[in-house]
Parts: sequence; C-alpha cells; structure tokens
Amino acid sequence: MKPSHSPAPSRRQFLKSSLATGAGLTILPSGTLANSPNNKLNIALIGAWGRGQRHWDSLDKENVVALCDVDSEFLGFAKKRFPKARTYEDWRQCIEQKDLDAIVCCTPDHTHAFIAHWALNRDLHAYIEKPVAITVDEARTLRAAYLPKKDKLATQVGMQRHADPNFDRVRELVRDGAVGDLKDVFVWGNRQIPRPGYLPAGGDPPAKLNYDLWLGPSPYHPYNEGYFDYDAPGANCLNWNMYWDFGIGQMGDMGSHTMDLAWNAIDAGLPTSVSAQGEEFNPEVTPVRLTSTWEFPANDWRGPIRVFWHQGGDMPKSPQPFIDLNRIGHGAMFKGTKGFLIADFSRRILMPYGKGADLSYYQARAKEDVTPDLGGFYEDWTDACKNGNPADTACNFEYSADMIETMALGLVAYRAGEKLAYDGEAGRVSNHSQANAYLTKPYRDGWVMNG
Ligand SMILES: NC(=O)c1ccc[n+]([C@@H]2O[C@H](COP(=O)([O-])OP(=O)(O)OC[C@H]3O[C@@H](n4cnc5c(N)ncnc54)[C@H](O)[C@@H]3O)[C@@H](O)[C@H]2O)c1
Repeated sequence: MKPSHSPAPSRRQFLKSSLATGAGLTILPSGTLANSPNNKLNIALIGAWGRGQRHWDSLDKENVVALCDVDSEFLGFAKKRFPKARTYEDWRQCIEQKDLDAIVCCTPDHTHAFIAHWALNRDLHAYIEKPVAITVDEARTLRAAYLPKKDKLATQVGMQRHADPNFDRVRELVRDGAVGDLKDVFVWGNRQIPRPGYLPAGGDPPAKLNYDLWLGPSPYHPYNEGYFDYDAPGANCLNWNMYWDFGIGQMGDMGSHTMDLAWNAIDAGLPTSVSAQGEEFNPEVTPVRLTSTWEFPANDWRGPIRVFWHQGGDMPKSPQPFIDLNRIGHGAMFKGTKGFLIADFSRRILMPYGKGADLSYYQARAKEDVTPDLGGFYEDWTDACKNGNPADTACNFEYSADMIETMALGLVAYRAGEKLAYDGEAGRVSNHSQANAYLTKPYRDGWVMNG
C-alpha cells in the first residue's frame, strides 16, 4: 500500500485560529459547572502529593477548590499550597463537591478507571495519570462511558512526553513513507523491578494513612510499609505497581509512555490477535521479562502490521550489528519495506536500507504541512476544557483506552499461554474461553466502577 501524504491532523491549529480571531476561551457548560470566575476551572486534585505535587505549578493557573488524599500529612502539605480548597480523604465524597468543573487524579493505578468513570458520570472534565486502566474490561467500560460525552468533556491521560515534537516527527516520517510500507513496530523498556509476591503483614498502618481507602476497590492485602516509601515523591508507584491488584507493572508504567510514541504514529485501533511469552506466571506479581505481539488490520493509509512490546531485558533484534538498541532504555523501532526508523522520546534515526537507500521513494513534507507543536501537555487539556473542542486533546480517553486495552490484552495472552484471537468489537477472546475471565479482575464488595 502506498503511504499517503496527508498531514497528520493538528490539534493545535483550531486552538491557534480561535485565539487569533479573538474568540477567547469560554468554559464549556458541562453539567454542573459554570461556577468559575475569570474563565478558570474549579479543580479537585485527587492524590495531592507524590505525582500530584508535580501538577501544583500548572494547577496554580486554575482554581484548586478541593483536595483529596488518604494520607492526612500529605493532604496538609497540599492544603498549605492551596489554602482555599476543601479537603477530603475519600474521593467518592470529594467528587460530589458541587462547584467542581474538573478533576486531576494522581492516585495509584488500581483506582484510576473508577475515579475517571465517576468523574464522567458527574460531567466533570478529567486529567488522569497513566495508566488510565489496568484491565481490558476497565479500559472498555471507561471508553464506552466517555464516547457519548466526548463533545462535552475534555479528558487527558498523563502521558506528557507526547508533547515532545519528536512524537509528531516520528508520526510524519512513518505516515509519509520514510520507511516504505510499514510492516512491524517494536517498542521496548528495560526497567526491572523483581518482587516475589505481595508483602507480608507488617503491623498497623500509621495513623495518618487511611489504608482501607488506599486499597479502595482492590481485594484486601495486609498493610506493609514497603508499599509506602515516599523518599522520592512521584516515584512511590515503583513500590506497588507490579502487583496485579495495584497495577500492571512496566506496561502501565514506562510502557504507557513508550507505547504512546508508537501508538501516535500507527493509528492502530484494536488488535485481532495477541500472544505473549515471558517468565513463569506469578499470580501475585506481573512479569519482569515479557514479549507481547499483536496483529492489527490494515487501515486507510497502511497495510496490516504487527506490534511487539519487549520489557525487562527482552529486546528486538537490531537491524545492524553497529546499532546497539540496548543503549536506548525506552524506545521504538518502525520497520518498513525500505528501512528502519529508531526513536526514543526526543530523538530519531532514519535508516534506509538496500537498493532503495537513495530515499528517492520518499518526499519530505513541506514546512507548512509540518504538524504544529502541541505546546504544554497540561494546557492541551485545560484549553480543551474551555475552547469548544473537548475531544481535541492528545491523549483523550478513547486514544488512551484503546492503547491500554491492547497492552492489558498482552498480559491476558501471557496468562493464557496461547495465541489469542480477539474480537475488538465484542471485547471477547474467540478461541480460548478461559482467557475471557482474565479480561477483568476481582474487586472488593461495595466498590463499583460505574458509580
Ligand atoms: N506521568 C508520569 O510521568 C508519572 C510519573 C510518576 C507517577 N505517575 C503516576 O502517578 C500516579 C501516582 O504515582 P505516585 O508515585 O505519586 O504514587 P503514590 O503512592 O506516591 O501516591 C500519590 C498520592 O496519592 C495518594 N493516594 C493514594 N491512594 C489514594 C486514594 N485512594 N485517594 C486519594 N489519594 C490517594 C497518596 O497518599 C499520595 O499522596 C500513578 O498512577 C503513577 O503511574 C505518572
């Protein structure tokens, strides 16, 4: 299939032109909002410390009217920064505050799909840290709730590396045929955090922590301080995200960022098959070492492709002995009929090969067709909350749910131990009935995602 040369759709063009014509920004009338003076959003920050703290400077530009954290000490830190905000320890109460327009959610991964879904149900714009879901079913349920509201609610998943212009340059090279017809895409991450199993009971939680609310929808696991090492705020996720009830390990962690580099370029949709191989399955901990492979059907600009995810030491084969892919900790490689494109988050190398290496098959796009920079990733979302184009964010819930559904399917195939045929329309594995049970996970009584 000949690659098309249509420019990648620009999310920013509309923003720029609407500003240029003096249209200004108007907060959308979405449900209960419209309480915000000066066109600022009334925001609840849920998960106020750790990664949440990294959002504080951006949040300064809006009104932080509510703060929620299960740790009273961390809530106190945030309250000092945002003294006018009301405080909560239970996000289910926080989200009911009547003057909210939007939430920013930086809680652990096992709560994301729940908080996101509850926010949509209350017509709140939502910025949710990655990964937006940890099972296939969570991703599908959230996307189904989002799509009917996509013209009303702005959503963003915290894959902020997406704002690096390299993401669009990679997309343009792939779409414009710089590697010829795209065939295979390899994505990898080298992080390794091995754990044998859930931590043993480690005494009572400190008085400042509501551990029951921390567990939230997760099945019960006894408290252990090993889940809570806050020496490096924003990195505590590395103490819990490998346990099946709290996260999906590297796929949800760095995998969210690195797969995004490829996902942005391939217009994948959902796969028709998935297989995976890794270390022996551990029912308590996600794998360190894993390779997962998906097949995707052709779309309107390319033929069918395969996508490979390698983690924890598994790596794709280098196209040339003098290129050491191991020097790229988190990267992506696109293989086409005419060459390779290798990228990390901010750089790329194009390597045409064989007799076609003169690049005559490829026409670089004109300057005016180059995708305008996304600008600030957070502002991409706040602008979309206000500008009349709420679906126009880089990593909205449709894009992000498709991506994480695909990755979570890789873990389903790993657990099933067989190549699975997937019906993305129905959300069912068609050749392995037991695998369908792995599309979801158990939750504690009293917690509902669609609440
Ligand atoms: N986008 C990125 O680059 C990036 C970087 C780091 C972390 N993250 C993501 O941010 C999230 C948080 O990671 P972290 O390392 O800050 O984790 P963390 O364990 O430090 O938790 C963050 C905060 O949430 C609070 N919290 C926990 N459960 C809560 C609940 N149910 N309700 C309200 N508050 C709750 C904690 O007390 C803490 O203040 C994770 O989903 C992680 O994947 C993203």
